[in-house]
Amino acid sequence: MHSATFTVIVDKVRVEAMDTVSIELRSSDSSPLPSFDAGSHISLHLPNGIVRSYSLVNATGNRDRYVLGVLRARDSQGGSAFVHEKLRVGDALAISAPRNNFPLDETGERFVLVAGGIGITAIYSMAQRLVALGKSVDMLYCCRSREHAAWLDSIQALGIPLKLHFDAQHGGPPDLRGFLDERDPETRFYCCGPTPMLSAFERACADHGYTHAHIERFSADPNAVKEASNAGYEVQLVRSRKLVRVEPGARLLDVLRAAGADVPSSCEQGVCGTCELSVIEGEIDHRDSVLSETERAEGKTMMVCVSSCKGGRLVLDC
Ligand code: FES
Repeated sequence: MHSATFTVIVDKVRVEAMDTVSIELRSSDSSPLPSFDAGSHISLHLPNGIVRSYSLVNATGNRDRYVLGVLRARDSQGGSAFVHEKLRVGDALAISAPRNNFPLDETGERFVLVAGGIGITAIYSMAQRLVALGKSVDMLYCCRSREHAAWLDSIQALGIPLKLHFDAQHGGPPDLRGFLDERDPETRFYCCGPTPMLSAFERACADHGYTHAHIERFSADPNAVKEASNAGYEVQLVRSRKLVRVEPGARLLDVLRAAGADVPSSCEQGVCGTCELSVIEGEIDHRDSVLSETERAEGKTMMVCVSSCKGGRLVLDC
């Protein structure tokens, strides 16, 4: 499945909060953009060769533009720093079609949304969708300070119950357990934010017995990291008609690239879906946080930055 790219034009760049800009992208020929659901993201293939995934902020149904929120990472390796410093209105940019690793279960009636920092991008998109559907929504938005809170006016204008938490003002992180207390167990819970917040959210939901809890990670769950496979395996690349060997401890993505395959990647932690490849044959050792249990069981695709083969041979559409 190599995510194919297409070209869009940067139409607007706007400062939304301290360290956060929004980027508005339009198609290069005025044709409608591929549709997306709340919680979707796209990958930007930046001119410096870096690929980065960002959630779509705008309302589902907008086919004329994609709006992204980009936080300037303190330890930027050239992704968010490039967007903040170099990207200009009028630039052409290659992007992937939207993908949704954080889908909204619209069959629910009551929803609780929790956002931490730039996690607001996916959560804001969900809030807009749920308001449009007439669902009951309750939201907690946490940031370092009010100055760091992007889209605050627009979120308040949605008219949903909104609790704000600023670490600088409260002297620490929010009381998630208290916020989630005494909810209807049929409520759908969604959280996007930094890893400590996601862990606290998952713990609180588990303690409360809430089964409809969903999170989106920016980085790999440290508890999910498994031992690397000790066994090597062979990989047949169908398109390039090559047979390569992945030695014990080697990363499949590196081996594929060394064999000349042009495989894009972004997070390289199994959380964004950029490096997804179609699998024709083989027993996959899935280690990503992208695929659902059903998708894993089907075994049709894999994230080659972290996943491997349980042994024997893999046949990839690559
Ligand atoms: S590069 Fe993000 S999942 Fe592989």
